[in-house]
Amino acid sequence: MAGWQSGYAAACKAVYAGSIPASASRLSIMNITIVGSGYVGITAGICFANVGHSVSLIDKNKAKANHLAMGKLDFFEPGLEKLLVKCIRKESLKSYSDYEKCRKSDFYFVCVDTPTVKGKPKTTNLFAAVYEILKYSSRPSIIVIKSTAPIGTYKKLEKKLENFHKNSIIKHHLVVHPEFLSEGTALKNFNSPDRIIVGTNSKQIQKKITKLYLPTGNANKIIFMKPESAELVKYASNAFLATKISFINEISQISEHSGGIIEEISYGLGLDKRIGPHFLKSGIGWGGSCFPKDLESLIYTKRMLNIPKGIIEASLEVNEFQVVNFYNKILKKGKLSSTSKVSVMGLTFKPDTDDIRNSVGFKLIKMIYKVTKNISVYDPMKNTVYPKIQSMGIDGIKFSSSKLKCINSSEIIIFATEWREFSEINKKYLKNKLVFDGRNIFTNQKLAKSKIEYFSVGS
Ligand code: UDX
Repeated sequence: MAGWQSGYAAACKAVYAGSIPASASRLSIMNITIVGSGYVGITAGICFANVGHSVSLIDKNKAKANHLAMGKLDFFEPGLEKLLVKCIRKESLKSYSDYEKCRKSDFYFVCVDTPTVKGKPKTTNLFAAVYEILKYSSRPSIIVIKSTAPIGTYKKLEKKLENFHKNSIIKHHLVVHPEFLSEGTALKNFNSPDRIIVGTNSKQIQKKITKLYLPTGNANKIIFMKPESAELVKYASNAFLATKISFINEISQISEHSGGIIEEISYGLGLDKRIGPHFLKSGIGWGGSCFPKDLESLIYTKRMLNIPKGIIEASLEVNEFQVVNFYNKILKKGKLSSTSKVSVMGLTFKPDTDDIRNSVGFKLIKMIYKVTKNISVYDPMKNTVYPKIQSMGIDGIKFSSSKLKCINSSEIIIFATEWREFSEINKKYLKNKLVFDGRNIFTNQKLAKSKIEYFSVGS
């Protein structure tokens, strides 16, 4: 490891890195309250309960809290519902809609949403959650900010806490502990994380956090740092990953004109160890609940700090253009008109989730809808995805019960999400169709011989 890196690594892991002292290695059960039963809160709660901690989930939405208490999730994440049921049976996980039963927690994890509204990050729910914790908690606790909070939130909360402590004998600590779970692989991410980032200035709190993670077997992955650094690591990670994808997507635009094949280019690029192969898969762009929101929030912070426009703004712009570029291809090569029949395969923002937030496929549908209303759609998560789309004001699109029915109903077939089952489609069903592959699912298959007119990204 280079000198400057090893120096920081040593400082960040100062407490227990590598060898965990015997005094800390006794496993103790902690009382954890998770505030906010959304994707992040539920996943963290179930995973901590599964390793033996006693976890309470709180959500102000009563129906949601009751639903969870019955072992039901309102989103899909592979393996998670099964684990939820197991934890409820073991009584290591409970779900409530108020704080009454959660007054004596060691840890309060704040996992509420921090949306951006017109590009401005909103922390109303986060501050409200911290106030509630301070109001109800009856003993000293560690308040863990797990929500992706805009830069500067820690300092604001720290001030509030200082004021609170002036009139209270109960002292709490504030910790910034960003979440790096990806939808579709959340359990794997929790069980074998690349790193666990914790921002705290207190050695005593570092020890407690280490104890919290001991039963997970990942305590040696904890990296301690200043809370202000931890706040920014999360944003920097997501901005970097989004930029990596935007970069390869920009290269794909050049490759389309120069006769290259983007997969070959990504492969050649990713073999350089300094670059690495991950997040170099070109497609119609990135979406989801994190990248768009986090980049917008970072851009807002930059604007507030008078930092000139740069790579992060460009990453967003490239992403917006990538889907327009693909749409233009459909318009031109597919001769899209008001009588065209179009099928869109895959509506979620990525495979193995039922999340359609900032789905690029859905953006594409909205563009096509302006030209033709003859649109059929299919998604493997149809039971949860179709009702969400139905409430989004695109009247008249047809929801197919199977992928083959969807393909059969149109001459233009668009693949917008790389669900595994799509790659297994028998090519005879695509014969004489115009196929627009927005995720390069079929690029290494010989489609030309199968009488399929095929258009992908970056070649
Ligand atoms: C992301 C981060 O990866 C995770 O660490 C953070 O906690 C939350 O945000 P997620 O939004 O679940 O996770 O999905 P991710 O797998 O990162 O994909 C984001 C988007 O990028 C998707 O639209 C996906 O299709 C796209 N993507 C990803 C590409 O286009 N190419 C790639 O090579 C990788």
